[in-house]
Amino acid sequence: MSDRNFRILFARTPSGLPVPEDFGRDEVAIPTPADGQFLSRTIWLSLDPYYRNVMKNSPIYGDRLAPGDPMVGETVAQVVQSRHAGFAVGDYVAVRNGWQQYAVSNGAGVRKLDATAAPLSTALGVLGMPGLTGYAGLVYLGEPKPGQTVVVSAATGPVGSTVGQVARLMGARSVGIAGSAAKCDYAVRELGYAACVNYRDGDLRAALKEACPEGIDVYFDNVGGDTLAAVFGNLALGARIVLCGMIEAYSMDRPPAGPFLGPVVGARATIKGLVVYDHMHRLPELQRVVGGWIRDGRFRWREDVADGLEQAPEAFCRLMRGQNFGKALVRVAPERA
Ligand SMILES: NC(=O)c1ccc[n+]([C@@H]2O[C@H](COP(=O)([O-])OP(=O)(O)OC[C@H]3O[C@@H](n4cnc5c(N)ncnc54)[C@H](OP(=O)(O)O)[C@@H]3O)[C@@H](O)[C@H]2O)c1
Repeated sequence: MSDRNFRILFARTPSGLPVPEDFGRDEVAIPTPADGQFLSRTIWLSLDPYYRNVMKNSPIYGDRLAPGDPMVGETVAQVVQSRHAGFAVGDYVAVRNGWQQYAVSNGAGVRKLDATAAPLSTALGVLGMPGLTGYAGLVYLGEPKPGQTVVVSAATGPVGSTVGQVARLMGARSVGIAGSAAKCDYAVRELGYAACVNYRDGDLRAALKEACPEGIDVYFDNVGGDTLAAVFGNLALGARIVLCGMIEAYSMDRPPAGPFLGPVVGARATIKGLVVYDHMHRLPELQRVVGGWIRDGRFRWREDVADGLEQAPEAFCRLMRGQNFGKALVRVAPERA
């Protein structure tokens, strides 16, 4: 193992959509673990839309970044040195190493992973934070009933694809909204959506009316903006709207104008805000239920992998432009050293 630690740094808050120049890079000595700490090598780096909000130091996140700090983020890593009684060399862990090849941890908030239970990368996707967001948000806030229509935007991403498949496996009819014909085709063919509407192709409100003739009982919103407004035109009586993410707004300097809320009143609809961290105690449930469906072959996912940590800034910019197709990940190192 070399003694250098390559890192991608936060350089400045982006103006609008992020560009690679918003990031820096450096190489420093690999840190040495103190008593009660372990050192791990990063294998998989998760790229998540919320990093864009961390880059503007949004107060809802615990992370604080100053120029020159390594970028923060979730990773899958392997312990290479340990002075911590709970972690042994060779253990695979889900740990917040950030955008760097090596980091030390005191074990707080670290999850051990069983490399034989599911592919390690799923700990950052369908069996990790995004999967939990889709699962808990749908089951506990959306509360779909068999036969009801569940619509989800960003339908092929890690959150959306979990919502669509869990809804179907709970007996609801799932309808996706996605940004290309290829994504919609994958959503129907591979993920089992009853229909998927490409919002870049014509009148979204009319297309949703056709795909959801009985109206929308549950809308799981990952994007906000015009998509949310189009859904408002198609609500069923008693609809539930789970507000999960507003990716379009993350790269705006000022919040966009809100949609007209009149139809929410007419439909007696309920709007609920979702924060995944309120549901962390349900992670074992996600792993049992969705992990079981994965082992049975009933649940699919897709990954959009960039190779090498130096590719992370461009891959993150692609995610924020909506150009990823599946869970955005960076392969920082091979799973086996
Ligand atoms: N509330 C919480 O606790 C929580 C937790 C995790 C994630 N989230 C949110 O959930 C949403 C989905 O996250 P994810 O991790 O599953 O990622 P993701 O689906 O891979 O997110 C990127 C996708 O968003 C879609 N998108 C729609 N409008 C966009 C726009 N204007 N710019 C860029 N992308 C756009 C694109 O798909 P299409 O081409 O199909 O539109 C793009 O591929 C995000 O908003 C995220 O912030 C919330």
